[in-house]
Amino acid sequence: MNHQVVKEKIANHLTINDDTIVALAPGRINLIGGHTDYNKGLVLPGAIDKYFYFALNPRTDDQINITAIDLDKKYSFTTDQLQKHGELWVDFLIGLLIEFKKSGVELKGFDCALTSDVPIGSGMSSSSALECSILTALNEYFDCHCDPWKLIEMSQSSNHKFIGVQGGILDQFSSLFGKENHVMYLDCDTLKYNYIDYPTSQYTWLVINSCVKHDNLTSGYNDRVSECNNAVNSIKRVYPDIRHLSDIKDTDALKEITFENETVRKRAQFIVEENNRVTSYVSALKLNDFKTCGELLYACHEGLSNQYEVSCAELDFLVDILRDEDAVLGSRMMGGGFGGCTLNLVDKSHTASIKDKVKNLYFQKWNIEPELYLVNISDGARIINS
Ligand code: GLA
Repeated sequence: MNHQVVKEKIANHLTINDDTIVALAPGRINLIGGHTDYNKGLVLPGAIDKYFYFALNPRTDDQINITAIDLDKKYSFTTDQLQKHGELWVDFLIGLLIEFKKSGVELKGFDCALTSDVPIGSGMSSSSALECSILTALNEYFDCHCDPWKLIEMSQSSNHKFIGVQGGILDQFSSLFGKENHVMYLDCDTLKYNYIDYPTSQYTWLVINSCVKHDNLTSGYNDRVSECNNAVNSIKRVYPDIRHLSDIKDTDALKEITFENETVRKRAQFIVEENNRVTSYVSALKLNDFKTCGELLYACHEGLSNQYEVSCAELDFLVDILRDEDAVLGSRMMGGGFGGCTLNLVDKSHTASIKDKVKNLYFQKWNIEPELYLVNISDGARIINS
């Protein structure tokens, strides 16, 4: 969406004046490194040109009025009524207000409105885009000067303690640190990262939304987090110094471990292999070896589907129908899983025919219209007042 057009849309619900703070925060793609973030492993995301917008007008009392423009819903509460509401678009705001309060901020009221073009529950991280747009606006409004790492910490704390999702930092990091035409190679343990120039090449990213909705709260996401913790406990009995699965670099080390069951072993095996795929991907990317990048995407999908078991029949189908297409170098499901989208590395000159093929075959099989997006790698969250 054009930012100016969005501001006009917001202006129908909130008076825009000199005091208005308008923040935006992007969704993300993660080229590779699925489910490694909460295992303190490696990821390779980029922010995309799809955004959540959060506009705020100051108030002098303690009243907070929020309008979700796209849902056509409103809710009002006061700064001392920070209890769960039940709908995520309100609870994300409340959870973050609790975090600001915990960090010593004296809360004050405001009127706010939100709108977005990140498809919700699609695997492009709509939730974190919303959270990061709220964080960016409130950081300014409360005059906190929190750095992005502090904002990530607040969001993760809210997700764990208030929302109830034991998520990692991939999404918030991508949304806050995004840089146009660059992907970010992040080690979620040391928090060291570097930007890798993303070559504008012959290939582009096509995101295909299966339109099977997932939500990390009710899907098996938290189960995967506990299975990985369970795996670490078994590994510690043999290697006491291991802190998390990403400390293991070689799957041979897993052969000596007695896991609680075969499922837990498969989860551990996947994470170790996935971290290795991220390093291989980065090496291939630096050589402009897109063919190898594509093969790694397919291998990642295999692992997510069979070892980590977070895919679903619709996502597997989307990957399978493109496997024999010369114009598609690689494809994998992306995000929390159990629905959402696939990420596809596609030859730019063939995107139209690939899109047609996907639309037809997917509709024939599932009677669902998929949504297809060509995304660009963009800058991260910011205030867009002027
Ligand atoms: C969701 C979570 C992230 C990450 C991905 C899987 O998007 O919010 O923290 O775990 O799933 O890579």
